[in-house]
Parts: sequence; C-alpha cells; structure tokens
Amino acid sequence: MIFSRIVGTGGYVPGAPVSNNDLVARGIDTSDDWIVERTGIRARYIAEKDVRTSTLAAEAARRALDAAGIAATDIDLVVLASTTPDMVFPSTACLVQNELGIPPGATAFDVQAVCSGFVYALTVADKFIRSGSHKRALVIGAETLSRIVDWKDRSTCVLFGDGAGAVVLAADDKAGILSSALHADGSQHQILNTTGQIAGGEIVGSPFLRMDGQAVFKQAVKVLGDVGQEVLDLAGLSLDELDWLIPHQANIRIMQSVAKRLKIPAERMVVTVDMHGNTSAASVPLALDVAVRDGRIRPGQLVMLQGVGGGFTWGAVLARV
Ligand code: ACO
Repeated sequence: MIFSRIVGTGGYVPGAPVSNNDLVARGIDTSDDWIVERTGIRARYIAEKDVRTSTLAAEAARRALDAAGIAATDIDLVVLASTTPDMVFPSTACLVQNELGIPPGATAFDVQAVCSGFVYALTVADKFIRSGSHKRALVIGAETLSRIVDWKDRSTCVLFGDGAGAVVLAADDKAGILSSALHADGSQHQILNTTGQIAGGEIVGSPFLRMDGQAVFKQAVKVLGDVGQEVLDLAGLSLDELDWLIPHQANIRIMQSVAKRLKIPAERMVVTVDMHGNTSAASVPLALDVAVRDGRIRPGQLVMLQGVGGGFTWGAVLARV
C-alpha cells in the first residue's frame, strides 16, 4: 500500500510583528486589553505593498524543502490554499512552481476553502499520492489577508495577519496521514465572506471581509468538536493516543472551547494565534512548523490538524509525523 507522510515543514511571516498597541497608534479605536481578552491575539504580521502571497508561499516552501532535504526539482505536485491569491489567474501554485524551479510538467493548482484551505489541500495531496500518480508534493497555505481587511472595521481588522506555512508530503510505505474528513455547508455562506468580484473592469460588491463574529464562533466550536472525533473514529484511535491538537488559529476562546469539547488538556494544544493572529489558510501549517522547530512535536507523534472558515467549511487531518 502507498501512504503519504509529512517529511518537512516550513513557515514564513513578513517583516516585524505589529502589536495591538501599534494598531492603536495607527488610529484604530481599540485596545490591547480588548483584543487579548476576546481573541488571545497580541501581534500579527502585515506584508509590505510589494510583497505578494506567492512571495510568502515560496519562502515557506523553500524552508519545508530544506527541512525535508528534498530538491524543488523532485516535486511533482503543488497544492496551494489561499483566499488572497496574487491574481485572478494563473493560480498562485503555478507562480510558486515557477519561482522555485519546480519542473514544467508537474501538477499545480490552488484550493479555495478559506481558513479550512490547508486541511483541504493536505487531504487532496494525500489522495493524489495514495493513488500512485504523484510522489512528492508541496502543500502550502499562504495569505495576505491584510489586503482584504477593512481597516475601518475594528471588529474584524484586529483579528487577521499575513503569512505562509508549507509541508512536503512524500509517498511512504508507512502511514503518515491516517485519516481525514472535509465538510462544507454552503447555506452558511453569508456569515463570513468577501463578496467582491471583478466585472466589466470594476470591483462589483464589497472588496472587504465581512463577518458575523458570534455566528462564526458558535459554528466553529461545534463543527471542530465533531470533526475531531470523526477523524479519530476513522483511524480507530482514541483521544488518549493524541499527542497534539493544532486547531485553526482564529481565536483562543474558540480553540479552548474545542479542546474542552474534545477533552484535550490545554497543554496538548499548539497555540500561535497570540503571535500571528488569524492567518487563514496559513495558520495551521505555520503553527505546525513552529511546534516542530521548537521541538514540541517529535517524530512518531500523533497530531490532529483542524481547519474551519468561510463557506462554511471545516475539516481535520490526523497524522503521524
Ligand atoms: N476593540 C474594542 N472594541 C471592539 C472591537 C475592538 N477591536 N471590536 C468590537 N468592539 C466592541 C463593539 O463595538 C461592541 O461594543 P458595544 O457593546 O458598545 O456595541 C463590543 O465590542 C462587543 O462587540 P461584539 O462584536 O459583540 O463582540 P464579541 O464579544 O462578539 O467579540 C469577536 C467579537 C472577538 C470577533 C467574537 O465574535 C469572536 O471571537 N468571533 C469569532 C470569529 C473569529 O474569530 N473569526 C475569525 C475569522 S473566521 C475563522 O477564521 C473561522
């Protein structure tokens, strides 16, 4: 049997951290106390105007390739999750392929599942590899969310940040990815969206992210609890065997509620929302990379990755790293 295994991780955030007090200094009517108490966020990174999502993605991918000891020329699949692509087309995955020198003829495409994007992309890449059609994939979550945030809307602009995370996924005869589950409920599309589109040379609809924060909060806690149990059941494993939970880093209160629902002690949850804010599709691979590099996640451990976001979409992947 062919399985897929994560053999390297990488992460990249642009420039210097922007603290909550920096936002206050920039004229946003908020406070460090409000943001920390409601969200757990202390800082985020904001890309300069000339930095694109593909730039962040390529840097995270380079670091993942280095960690894996695999050359870009050996990659035959690029799956990139983003809600803030460089352009309408071509896909950001193709731009990263070109930037890294991944050979022409590889497969490269974007996945759009908003903050669930990385778990969607990882699951898709896992299925490609298990089918035998591809051997080494780069799976990337990358965002410049700051570009679609309305900096006049304090209820959303303080939440988000820019960044990218990546993994190299390779074919292996031992199972790395043990189970995954992806779900969507399009009837909830209105609770979190950016409705703008380009038509007739103009942006039609809003170019900014809009959110019903309380509806998103309630949905996220419920679906992440359910999908966490679902991937454990699919793999025939119990919660006691789980070493690390890496939920989407949206808000510490959502994350703590999910851990409580799943009865996972707080010390087994990886938290980076405090330093990165919500980086949408980048949040899970960035958190994974931080915990791998600081030595918390060790080879052989069992890790659950969880995504949730606009669509409404959600999913989880259970992996032995
Ligand atoms: N600073 C200071 N005050 C603020 C701010 C701010 N940045 N934003 C809102 N407020 C005020 C509001 O104006 C309101 O004041 P009022 O009572 O005088 O009218 C008060 O705070 C409460 O506002 P609410 O919107 O009701 O605040 P709530 O307690 O719901 O917290 C929050 C808002 C943090 C967004 C919360 O709803 C939440 O965590 N939702 C989850 C959504 C989330 O994390 N989304 C991330 C993206 S989605 C995803 O990744 C899945």
